[in-house]
Amino acid sequence: MSRRRFLIGASAAAGAVAFGGLSGCGRTGATGDPVAPTAEAVRRLEAQRRVANQTIVPAHLAARPTQIDLGGRIVQTWGYGDTLPGPLLRARAGDLLQVRVDNQLPADTSIHFHGIALSNDMDGVPGLTQDPIAPGGAFTYEFTAPHPGTYFYHSHSGVQLDRGLYGVVVIDDPAEPGGYDDEWVVVLDDWVDGTGRTPDDVARELGMAASGEGSESAGEMGGMDHGSMEDMEGMGDMGAETMQSDLLGGAGDVNYPYYLVNGRIPTDPVSLTAVPGRRIRLRIVNAGSDTAFRLALGGHRMTVTHSDGFPVTPRETDALLIGMGERFDVLVTLADGVFPLYAAAEGKPGYGVALVRTGAGSAGPTDTRPAELDRQVLLGTDLSPREQVRLASKSHDNYLSVDMGGTMSPYRWTLNGRAFPDAAPLAVAQGQRVRMRFRNMSMMFHPMHVHGHTFALVSGGARKDTVTVRPMQTVEVEFDADNPGQWALHCHNAYHQEAGMMTTVSYRA
Ligand code: C2O
Ligand code: CU
Repeated sequence: MSRRRFLIGASAAAGAVAFGGLSGCGRTGATGDPVAPTAEAVRRLEAQRRVANQTIVPAHLAARPTQIDLGGRIVQTWGYGDTLPGPLLRARAGDLLQVRVDNQLPADTSIHFHGIALSNDMDGVPGLTQDPIAPGGAFTYEFTAPHPGTYFYHSHSGVQLDRGLYGVVVIDDPAEPGGYDDEWVVVLDDWVDGTGRTPDDVARELGMAASGEGSESAGEMGGMDHGSMEDMEGMGDMGAETMQSDLLGGAGDVNYPYYLVNGRIPTDPVSLTAVPGRRIRLRIVNAGSDTAFRLALGGHRMTVTHSDGFPVTPRETDALLIGMGERFDVLVTLADGVFPLYAAAEGKPGYGVALVRTGAGSAGPTDTRPAELDRQVLLGTDLSPREQVRLASKSHDNYLSVDMGGTMSPYRWTLNGRAFPDAAPLAVAQGQRVRMRFRNMSMMFHPMHVHGHTFALVSGGARKDTVTVRPMQTVEVEFDADNPGQWALHCHNAYHQEAGMMTTVSYRA
């Protein structure tokens, strides 16, 4: 309790001042006091989710320093146990997850269950929904997972996401129609930790002050590993200004030495095996911190069935562009042979790859970019929802503007001109239909993520919790304010978020 520093009081005052100027179309917003994560309204809603005979799914995660073999390249990092990604958590919609987290790190931590519309007090945002879990401490996240889908969990402290502190959550649908023979989970990541610098070093190089509590010890931990100049792989050969994508504009701020598929670098990739003709569901997660991936399976087309866990009208494509924090489920019918599942780092040199094997034959060169990557490329904003998850059409009661901006020097990223924690909260009231306008006024793309809710894209309609907004693009979304509390809203670039590109969706009553 010693470091208790809930920000709600300060945020509330700022919000009351700022809000009047933000209502876009003459509608009123929301007034009153912030609904705290511990509020009765939050407790009551979770009690309603807990039906009789609810299945309890226990899990245990130990966040700790560990050594990971990326495929011939061994790195010191922080992970959940000794695997990368961390353990897969799996439950059915409506189950109660009980995830005990032991913090064996030399820094504060917390876990966020990304995309799950859970109870606000279990959302894992230190300083907003809980106290940080101190070194040597523990916390049990206990919540009902209401909706099926592909989600992930990750540290929500500082830039710890850019270490090995992430894993996948699959919430199965008891009414799943199936239609596939097997399922593979595919996690994409950009990797720097243990290659001579840590993510905290990267943050400092970008010009950020030491980030959050424990970041000094964090830097020293990395130093134990290597740290000599000649060990800094892939550094200094490319500045941020040259990382450009034809689809996304400014493609990132960090040029990583490695890109991973399921924790492996291309020199020794993971093999995914099946027999020819099998129909496979791929659950694809971008756990990267500063990299969008363009993904294709060489020699195949894929059918996109879900975005951010929610079903979409199936769409065939050659390739997918996946921002940080986004998930897509796709179906592929496998041909006979060995094929690269290739994740090109969008606008950056480098790629991650896994091998799909259905037959004899050698792997062939895994460094050849499949032609599919440069054919039809689908983005989340191209999708429309399955009828059963379409948001009922209804006029909105609250209009919120979120203008995204930033500068490289000083390294500062903002929402509505302000950097968290000096943010203007976006006030909503329970029961409102909220329309939100993301307007990107910068030359870099930003995957915008809202906690605790899955919004609908106003154009197209697909349900998502993370939407990639291109430079100078405006994207409008709508959601029903049906999950009270204080919810983080931020860019899912870990460095942008840490540099201030975050605010809250703040329920008032
Ligand atoms: Cu995956 Cu607040 O984020
Ligand atoms: Cu951003």
